[in-house]
Amino acid sequence: PLVSMTEMLNTAKENKYAVGQFNLNNLEFTQAILQAAEEEKSPVILGVSEGAARYMGGFKLVVAMVKELMDEYGVTVPVAIHLDHGSSFESCAKAIHAGFTSVMIDGSHHPLEENIALTKKVVELAHFHGVSVEAELGRIGGQEDDLIVDDADAMYAIPSECDQLVRETGVDCFAPALGSVHGPYKGEPNLGFDRMKEVMELTGVPLVLHGGTGIPTKDIEKAISLGTAKINVNTENQIASAKAVRETLAAKPEEYDPRKYLGPARDAIKETVKGKMREFGSSGKA
Ligand code: G3H
Ligand code: ZN
Repeated sequence: PLVSMTEMLNTAKENKYAVGQFNLNNLEFTQAILQAAEEEKSPVILGVSEGAARYMGGFKLVVAMVKELMDEYGVTVPVAIHLDHGSSFESCAKAIHAGFTSVMIDGSHHPLEENIALTKKVVELAHFHGVSVEAELGRIGGQEDDLIVDDADAMYAIPSECDQLVRETGVDCFAPALGSVHGPYKGEPNLGFDRMKEVMELTGVPLVLHGGTGIPTKDIEKAISLGTAKINVNTENQIASAKAVRETLAAKPEEYDPRKYLGPARDAIKETVKGKMREFGSSGKA
């Protein structure tokens, strides 16, 4: 069923595993991720950035596509459709009215008080509709769609500020920027685990780890042990699908039927997602 993230993340936190957020880019991504979740018996979060929604034809189309595919596949596992890095109250409201079951309001580029005020406004609307909310503090580096943060502007979240934001807004889960990066890492990631522990103890809410691509398993396990209950992955699926398309077309340069090269891309995404679900411990939990 389509649900908010609240229950799946609280259960995950309690039982020390994380639910993956896998981003949608097109029909094949959606098919692959839903099939992987159902086959792994895993809860799943479908992440939709504003840019990806625009590319696919808007929030309503995304909701309709997800609902039809869930119906077609007879999906029994919990699925959330989540706005990823929502940039404004208006964008979150639009997603909620289109049928999204969860939204992220990314006010991380605003000063703390403004971030809190904006997040609070989104929480009020969202909770009225039974929709869950994720917020962010600090700044996650790297690039995701239109969201580009230079290394110099990337910032670690401050635990006391995280506590204040979570307390004053009533968000359901929270993403403190602690050194993770969108897109591939330059070298080994350097995650702020001491601060993560502090944020977990202060806030008590399930934590979210953005930039899941390229984080070693030992760091994933440590993050989960420190209260991380949601891990976002996009780039890794994009790389896997692009690789499959390249290999298919290299082997058959005359091929022109999109189903012949997007089919293997879809298979590659599905395998990648299944691997993540096992790594995050969410397999068999639905
Ligand atoms: O919000 C989406 C994620 O944080 C994705 O990060 O593309 O580095 O896996 P990633
Ligand atoms: Zn992110």
